[in-house]
Amino acid sequence: MPGVVIVGAQWGDEGKGKATDVLGSRVDYVVKFNGGNNAGHTVVIGDQKFALHLLPSGILTPGVTPVIGNGVVVDISVLFTEIDALIERGVDPSKLLISNAAHIIAPYARTLDNVTERFLGKRKIGTTGRGIGPAYADKINRLGLRMGDLFDEQLLRDKIEGSLEQKNHLLVKVYNRRAITVDEVADELLQYRDRLEPMVTDTSLVLNQALDRGETVLFEGGQATMLDVDHGTYPFVTSSSATAGGASTGSGVGPTRIDSVIGIVKAYTTRVGEGPMPTELFDEMGDFLAEVGHEYGTTTGRRRRCGWYDAVIARYAARINGLTDLVLTKLDVLTGLEQIPVCVAYDVDGVRYEELPQDQAAFAAATPVYEYLPGWTEDISGARSFEDLPQTAQDYVMALEKISNCRISAIGVGPGRDEIIVNHDLLHVRGA
Ligand code: IMP
Repeated sequence: MPGVVIVGAQWGDEGKGKATDVLGSRVDYVVKFNGGNNAGHTVVIGDQKFALHLLPSGILTPGVTPVIGNGVVVDISVLFTEIDALIERGVDPSKLLISNAAHIIAPYARTLDNVTERFLGKRKIGTTGRGIGPAYADKINRLGLRMGDLFDEQLLRDKIEGSLEQKNHLLVKVYNRRAITVDEVADELLQYRDRLEPMVTDTSLVLNQALDRGETVLFEGGQATMLDVDHGTYPFVTSSSATAGGASTGSGVGPTRIDSVIGIVKAYTTRVGEGPMPTELFDEMGDFLAEVGHEYGTTTGRRRRCGWYDAVIARYAARINGLTDLVLTKLDVLTGLEQIPVCVAYDVDGVRYEELPQDQAAFAAATPVYEYLPGWTEDISGARSFEDLPQTAQDYVMALEKISNCRISAIGVGPGRDEIIVNHDLLHVRGA
């Protein structure tokens, strides 16, 4: 009964698609368990390239059932924009299932996301502006709308009314915006009801039954460990549980049914939005990583902040998620460097930290302690086994494995789907 979780081990955009591709046709279900359309992955179908923000990556693999779990917040108009774009390109999304307990990103959540960021001024989070935070805030405040509510119109209208009562005061009196009516929200949401009906179901039951039958369920985390609302660089985080524990709460599958947890980590570090990032580079090396690594956001187009590999973060991700494996991506981006700095610890006012400082101010003040590893100049994109890599690249990977406290089971050596070295089976069962 393999239940496999994939999570980002840094600040997102580590290239989760690579690991998903390695697991390929052995997966029966792909579950998105957190976040919403703040994520983004570029997908190539034939000669066309386009971005998916909300749908789980499994939507493109014939035979896979893609699932949007209860931990996700769904912008229904984005959902159908993506579904229709796929249909136009000949992809059949009819197997998609959505949890009846997944929350809806109501139109007012988007408005609130943007006005709140403006109001925060220099304390802003740098959100994607998709209404993610306000939708989760409503969920926790018990003012949220859930997918299942769409099928009881009176209940839906009552919930919208309850939610708007407070928000209209805020919008009108604090943010100087116009009030929103129950009808405009209800009309927008209800137009999708008939199309949604066949997809909305008890996905926890479906997934547990699949595991009972011995099928493979892949839980795909959105965002990443350092953006997790509990374990990330709070308050500069997203509003959901992006770590492995979120796979259980966000899907209704218990932790004892999860066999392996794969962390995806880039051979260097990137971050979008605000918040501390100890290894961030402000010089031409940062530009080098951004240009060679094409580090521009899929969702917002923003240039990502770039820096060297941070092993303190990787060790932390290994611990918080209980990682069984790491997939190291984009190793090829480092080709051509004479030596490669790797952050092994932090210095905070003369004190060495081997572990992530829990104090927000200390983390913000942390400067990296680097070790310098020799680089390589050979093109590594053709390597398909570890031994194909130049010795210094092998040494770099082995050094990362050691200081990150987790085995590296696959290594990305180029953007293509097959440009990867697989060291260990990623579908192994715990203890095997
Ligand atoms: P929100 O998720 O839109 O509320 O944004 C909160 C923070 O998470 C911001 O710094 C975003 O840039 C960041 N973020 C959200 N989704 C992603 C992602 O998929 N990749 C990287 N950063 C993300």
